[in-house]
Amino acid sequence: MKIIKVKSYEEMSALAAKLIVEQIKEKPNSVLGLATGSTPIGTYERLVGLDFSRVKTFNLDEYCGLKRGHSQSYYYFMMENLFSHINIKKNNINFPTEKNPEKYDDKITRAGGIDLQLLGVGSNGHIGFNEPDDVFHNLTRIVKLADSTVKDNARFFDNIKDVPKTAISMGIGTIMATRKIVLVADKNKAHIIKELEKPVVSPQLPCSILHYHPDCTIICVM
Ligand code: GLP
Repeated sequence: MKIIKVKSYEEMSALAAKLIVEQIKEKPNSVLGLATGSTPIGTYERLVGLDFSRVKTFNLDEYCGLKRGHSQSYYYFMMENLFSHINIKKNNINFPTEKNPEKYDDKITRAGGIDLQLLGVGSNGHIGFNEPDDVFHNLTRIVKLADSTVKDNARFFDNIKDVPKTAISMGIGTIMATRKIVLVADKNKAHIIKELEKPVVSPQLPCSILHYHPDCTIICVM
């Protein structure tokens, strides 16, 4: 695991975007794994203008119970922040669904596997919506959100009661099977990066599994 410390959000976003640009230039039909959250917005802004005509994307997660048109659904977020600004084909955009979530992993395999996975990290160390637990969960499935995640994400909803309590998330196995990982973390996640610097892998800090990934770059503001 390579940890690159940068001074600003802009520097973090520019470096993450550079790695994605390099990936797509090298392989124009790349399969990308994408993340939502406020952290990758600056990265996405810097990808506008790049040729996505042959790129396929698989998003990490989605809330249960929100329609695609809901302003807080992750589908809506991706449309607003990336997809509506680039030339990606609608059929090449994939999200996990509440119905048959386990089929998502087969779909990723049929697409040839994910070449580059962009990740954020939750303030409790989750990746996707893989929350701290006693074990690592392998595949895409319905998950119950941790109370701290519901609280963190309440800022986007009118009322904390409106925050979905469940979501569909790629599993830890799905994420670990990707060929390259780029994780972005702003300075509000410095406490998690400090934990990650310790050589300890635990399902109570889900992102710590990334120590075992063969090609993982963490870009963090510190
Ligand atoms: C959500 C998403 C994660 C994301 C996290 C951090 O919980 N499921 O994939 O990494 O938010 O979000 P932010 O970047 O807004 O801190």
